Amino acid sequence: MTVTGVGQVDAAKRSMLLTALYVAQAQHGYLTSEAMDRVAERLGMTPKEVYEAATFYSMFHFAPVGRYVIQVCEGLSCHLAGGAENILEHLQHKLHIKPGQTTRDGLFTLQMVQCLASCGTSPAMRVNDTLYENLTCDQVDIILDELRGG
Ligand code: FES
Repeated sequence: MTVTGVGQVDAAKRSMLLTALYVAQAQHGYLTSEAMDRVAERLGMTPKEVYEAATFYSMFHFAPVGRYVIQVCEGLSCHLAGGAENILEHLQHKLHIKPGQTTRDGLFTLQMVQCLASCGTSPAMRVNDTLYENLTCDQVDIILDELRGG
């Protein structure tokens, strides 16, 4: 049987896969190709299947990232709420980085994602595992201050 995408991996294997990828990412802060190969071997999958599944989820990273990964939603609901562009511009100004970059102190990485499954409470952004909804630029400042202090 050939499995070509995350949608064709059965639910049990997908659950194990996501857990294994999450654990692998926790070891280095991102998924190395060696880590994905090991996951593939242990789950009886091909490296391609694992890579395709991993790239489907915005929570996985494939290069070193900062301590805090800030993901700003640029999906339609957030765009229509008038937030995505404002939030992104504000973050770029405050952090002096563009999407895909990490601050020099290694604290923040900025990313754009398509949807954080929070369309009804847009605009939204996620920092590591924490979702922030109905976001304003003032709230972004508070969040950044808290993260710098913590
Ligand atoms: S479009 Fe932004 S959370 Fe869905």
